[in-house]
Amino acid sequence: MSDKSATRPSIEAQLRTVIDTAVDGMVIIDATGRIELFNPACERLFGYGAAEVIGQNVRILMPEPYHGEHDGYLANYRRTGEAKIIGIGREVVGRRKDGSTFPMDLSVGETREGANSLFIGIIRDISRRKADEAALQESAAMLRAVVDTAVDGVIVIDETGLIELFNPACERLFGYEAAEVTGHNVKMLMPEPYHDEHDGYLAHYHHTGERRIIGIGRTVVGRRQDGTTFPMDLSVGEARRGTEKLFVGVIRDISDRLTTEEQLRQAQKMEAVGQLTGGIAHDFNNLLAVISGNLELMTLKRDLGNDARGLADAALRATERGADLTRRLLTFARRQALKPAAVDVNEIIRGMGDLLRRSLSEMIAIHLRLAPDLWPAVIDRGQMENALLNLALNSRDAMPGGGELLIVTRNLSLAEDMRDGIWRLPAGDYVEIAVGDTGTGMTANMIAHAFEPFFTTKETGRGTGLGLSMVYGFVTQSGGQVKIYSEVGRGTTVKLYFNRDTARAQDAAAGQAGAAPTPTPPPDLVLIVEDDAAVRDMAVAMVESLGYRVHAVGDGHAALEALDRIGDIAILLTDVVLPRGLRGPDIVRQARLLRPDLAVAYMSGFAPELLSGDIAPEADAILIDKPFHRANLSQALRTALERRGG
Ligand SMILES: Nc1ncnc2c1ncn2[C@@H]1O[C@H](COP(=O)(O)OP(=O)(O)OP(=O)(O)O)[C@@H](O)[C@H]1O
Ligand SMILES: [Mg+2]
Repeated sequence: MSDKSATRPSIEAQLRTVIDTAVDGMVIIDATGRIELFNPACERLFGYGAAEVIGQNVRILMPEPYHGEHDGYLANYRRTGEAKIIGIGREVVGRRKDGSTFPMDLSVGETREGANSLFIGIIRDISRRKADEAALQESAAMLRAVVDTAVDGVIVIDETGLIELFNPACERLFGYEAAEVTGHNVKMLMPEPYHDEHDGYLAHYHHTGERRIIGIGRTVVGRRQDGTTFPMDLSVGEARRGTEKLFVGVIRDISDRLTTEEQLRQAQKMEAVGQLTGGIAHDFNNLLAVISGNLELMTLKRDLGNDARGLADAALRATERGADLTRRLLTFARRQALKPAAVDVNEIIRGMGDLLRRSLSEMIAIHLRLAPDLWPAVIDRGQMENALLNLALNSRDAMPGGGELLIVTRNLSLAEDMRDGIWRLPAGDYVEIAVGDTGTGMTANMIAHAFEPFFTTKETGRGTGLGLSMVYGFVTQSGGQVKIYSEVGRGTTVKLYFNRDTARAQDAAAGQAGAAPTPTPPPDLVLIVEDDAAVRDMAVAMVESLGYRVHAVGDGHAALEALDRIGDIAILLTDVVLPRGLRGPDIVRQARLLRPDLAVAYMSGFAPELLSGDIAPEADAILIDKPFHRANLSQALRTALERRGG
């Protein structure tokens, strides 16, 4: 026995070892709370040496409010046997010698020693766990905040496709509340064919690991609660939760971006077509000017035989049709020389009543609904009439069996941009003119191309496809907008928007028309400035045929030199766009310094530059379009002379 006791430590010694080496703190108190045992782990935890605390009330290891409550707690337990910690254990707070506190798990057991109870407390410091928990909570809160406030949609699905998280941005994008979609398959957010393909896609990925979106991202289509769809950029990441996969999708609505891109593409396309059209038409127009001018001069010859005269007349009529075509092309290309003035669109429409009635069949009823207080708009009256006529003719063609044509005007004040698909009208005050019919209507594809030159669905010979192109060119050149609303079978309405004339300038040029013709032109000297030799020769011949004397030059420098040298030049007839740095308006400005009484008229080559600020002719300039007729020329020269006189 004694051998055994020598080789094996006593139970008491073993217990002592346990207590001394335990990682957890152990403390024994008596029924009054006095500390009887305080193991080394406790010394480390509380910073007291055992000798310092043994015999003290255990309260010293507790911060308030436990400190103050502890005696009462023990007394209550003695009286009622109601245990709050004893035999149970719970999370409490300990107080170190230095006054600092720490969270701890406390379990308390009770044992009896005679009539007295002893309480054995086992203490585990849970600061680390608490800190980890707090950190976890904090990062979860942070993540939540990021996800909740993200501008992009964030969505988390499990590996079977069920939605686990759906952030507020997603709620806004898709029109669902998170609660409505959580637990449902994510394919509810996809239109066909994605909807049906999604399960297969996930399964395929699980089997083969082949990725089509995961880790890559791409542009797909989302489906809102109301069934509408929208383009979105989707990037999908993969995460793991234990052995499970999770997929995190980040979604950005790209409708706006696509709209802007499409808008730009459209604008660029129309611009490119316009450039090309305008360039060709411009050159072609100069050729026509030469052809028609020379033909006209030819018909003036007394000794021309009747046969030849008939041929020349026929050729002249063809040049007129050619000129009409180039004029329309130039209108589309926004190179028409506009003469904008503040106009009352209602008055223009009323003035066209007869013309419209004559142009449309009797089976078409015309209704006008014109706003009584319509704002003035600054536009070219002739072009406006032309546009209205073209729209009315389109309506006529769309209503072969008759129908109704409605023209409506109104004032439109926009506080914000008005949008419709890629079309956008900036905020502002507009005069709106709508021309509607009850005709065949147009398909989306027709609407998309209707403004392009030569787009027509009419049989050859019936339409050139330039009507709407002209309307488009005129409206955009005037700083306005045009929009087609149409549905097949329901008719078409074309709406034009022009800026309200804020200056309210009542145009002075109104009284310009109808100057009384004087039959015998004075033998004044006309200085012609034109760089194109053929056009110049034709112009010279034509001005001469009107009885004027002529001096012709090819550029502005020569013109100024001539003005300086030749005293009796009465009229300056100049092209607008000229080489060598001096354009028509420059020549006019400098010439007026030399000769304030000079009469001036421009010949317009419809050049694009015509419109840009510093080289635009004066607002009230006399301008004749090329190719011009003898009568136009005669009228222009007379008006120029009269103005100088007046
Ligand atoms: N009111 C309308 N109703 C139905 N379709 C229309 C209407 N207006 C235009 N369209 C369609 O748009 C096409 C282009 O119109 P646009 O006025 O530019 O040319 P067009 O009428 O064919 O020829 P043009 O006007 O040069 O004689 C038409 O051919 C037609 O298909
Ligand atoms: Mg037309």
